[in-house]
Amino acid sequence: MTWDISGKRVLITGGTTGIGRATVAELAQRGAEVIFTARNPATGDEVIEEVAAATGNNALEHRRLDLDDLAAVRSFADQFQSDFDRLDVLINNAGVVVTERKETADGHEFTFGVNHLGHFQLVESLLPLMRASAPARIVIVASDAHKFVKGLDFDDLHARQGRFGPGRGMAAYSRSKLANMLHTRELARRLADDEVTVNCLHPGAVRTRLGRDGESTRLSEVVGPVVSRFFMTPAKGARTSVWAATAPELDGVTGEYFSKSKIAKPRKTVLDEVAAARLWSVSEELVGG
Ligand SMILES: NC(=O)c1ccc[n+]([C@@H]2O[C@H](COP(=O)([O-])OP(=O)(O)OC[C@H]3O[C@@H](n4cnc5c(N)ncnc54)[C@H](OP(=O)(O)O)[C@@H]3O)[C@@H](O)[C@H]2O)c1
Repeated sequence: MTWDISGKRVLITGGTTGIGRATVAELAQRGAEVIFTARNPATGDEVIEEVAAATGNNALEHRRLDLDDLAAVRSFADQFQSDFDRLDVLINNAGVVVTERKETADGHEFTFGVNHLGHFQLVESLLPLMRASAPARIVIVASDAHKFVKGLDFDDLHARQGRFGPGRGMAAYSRSKLANMLHTRELARRLADDEVTVNCLHPGAVRTRLGRDGESTRLSEVVGPVVSRFFMTPAKGARTSVWAATAPELDGVTGEYFSKSKIAKPRKTVLDEVAAARLWSVSEELVGG
């Protein structure tokens, strides 16, 4: 049977704004049942109202997920698995950039904690359901920003020696996005016999609220107002995520990096199997539980 997103159940992290919100809208338009995460229920309701009115699709739901708190991620996943009998597509979309160093509830550097460890735990917890739903897809929203760093610093994963301040959280962010990509590679290797594919992607440079760091700053302010004028709209920025979730031609394609709805070549740092395996075992230790 060819892959058809209509009627499939999709879970998207961070569906309230930016690329995630546009991905919710486009997948709803294509007839998927979409569950997205929202930390503010009023914003979640607003997204549902807007998307349902625009698409006529009422199979929409939002749930609270705090990726900066691993116990909360585990209880979210437990509840999800008791409420739903299948999950066809998981899109790890939520992401943060911070200007000041801070930590998650578990004492991990915030960017690494939210962008990588929170999602690592989410995937681990939902894997039984996804395996049972095979064929299924995991889509990880990474970034070309992985090119800005030479690799992960395993001696300082929590960026205690990292430089923060306006515009500087980008190094920690770039490493967290490289972590997303190494996670993709190792997970794809581990799921090779399960008919659960895992791919990551770069959405493009998109005008969103990324980098707002508690509402005050925006990525456009970090990179400069002139450059950000050339950023694309969230709807365009969602295209590669939507393609990864829906394209029938991607059946069986796994462990790849997508950009502009095509397979792209990542930096060598992403293809480092030793780093991918090491990140996996360190992540298992860090998420504990
Ligand atoms: N924008 C770009 O140019 C660009 C480029 C490359 C890659 N990306 C990637 O694209 C993805 C989406 O980014 P975006 O630009 O659309 O950002 P955005 O507009 O800031 O949206 C981020 C989403 O993540 C959620 N989120 C933030 N912190 C969270 C937490 N602790 N727990 C759970 N959810 C949390 C937010 O939900 P709340 O409403 O609850 O805060 C929001 O829905 C990210 O992974 C980012 O790294 C973006």
